[in-house]
Amino acid sequence: MTNLSVKLFDIKFKNPVWVASGTFGYGVEAQEIFDVSKLGAVVTKGISLKPRLGNETPRIVETPCGMLNSIGLQNPGVEKFLTEIYPKIEHLDTHFIANVFGESEEEYVEVCIALEDAPKVVAYELNVSCPNVKKGGIVFGHDPVVLGSLVESIKKRIKKPLLVKLSPNVTDVREFAKVCIESGADGLVLINTLLGMKINIRKKKPDLATKTGGLSGPAILPIAVRMIYQVYEAFGDQIPIIGVGGISTWEDALEHVMAGASAIQVGTANFFDPLAPIKVLEGIERYMKEEGIQDFSELIGVAHRSE
Ligand SMILES: Cc1cc2nc3c(=O)[nH]c(=O)nc-3n(C[C@H](O)[C@H](O)[C@H](O)COP(=O)(O)O)c2cc1C
Repeated sequence: MTNLSVKLFDIKFKNPVWVASGTFGYGVEAQEIFDVSKLGAVVTKGISLKPRLGNETPRIVETPCGMLNSIGLQNPGVEKFLTEIYPKIEHLDTHFIANVFGESEEEYVEVCIALEDAPKVVAYELNVSCPNVKKGGIVFGHDPVVLGSLVESIKKRIKKPLLVKLSPNVTDVREFAKVCIESGADGLVLINTLLGMKINIRKKKPDLATKTGGLSGPAILPIAVRMIYQVYEAFGDQIPIIGVGGISTWEDALEHVMAGASAIQVGTANFFDPLAPIKVLEGIERYMKEEGIQDFSELIGVAHRSE
């Protein structure tokens, strides 16, 4: 018997393969491609208090081994999510994790509170890679004091588990992991996209309308693995880590897990292979059978113990 289930923040997930925010919508369209209930969890596209139209186009461009995006967090807002989207997903036999963002602490809190009564939403994942408009535009996840205050004020007002998705655009991600733990976070998600730019040499200017964008895809796999490894080494006994960044195959996913991730999210790979999450899940199961590993938890952080 191969046991792929994982228990994190007191919630049982049927397996550790989730899909990443912004790369899978809300799971509505994917139901035509595969049985979404096979996934351990679906992380929703970012949800804000008010609807947002997002940035000007072009807002996606390909790069070697990855893509840059500056979608600008387009979404219909939490009210429409609850009235129009939630009824289309609540029958699915998987967990939903709401990816939440705001322009101020109050906005984050209000979005989470609005979702407290939606039973399918089992936890919140905070996107802290956006600016605090009230505090001069500093990115929440780039200032330990701002980040700590955000996590603390949300935690005080909600009942569901709170995961914080860390930004990789910092010097030492462990400093931010520590602040989240001290402020009461229940889980850490590593990593969001890396800030990048592509210049169109014919137009002689950046391709994206916003000039810079978030780099994702296979190019960022080694960076995500390194950051997970560092955070697990420092705090792996205190908080679970969810890995995201550059996973296209089951082998990539296992690198995240062996570095210290208790579950993983498939992101950009969904755009070039819509069946990627299922292939990752089947690959992990096959590997466990081949290696004689009965319980998935035996693999978490194993790279730290094999040195
Ligand atoms: C088009 C696109 C939209 C995204 N939207 C969000 C979002 O709304 N909230 C968020 O926290 N991360 C968002 N992300 C980041 C991904 O969830 C993920 O952290 C990142 O892409 C790295 O994983 P990957 O290399 O597997 O794509 C987005 C990424 C892409 C490519």
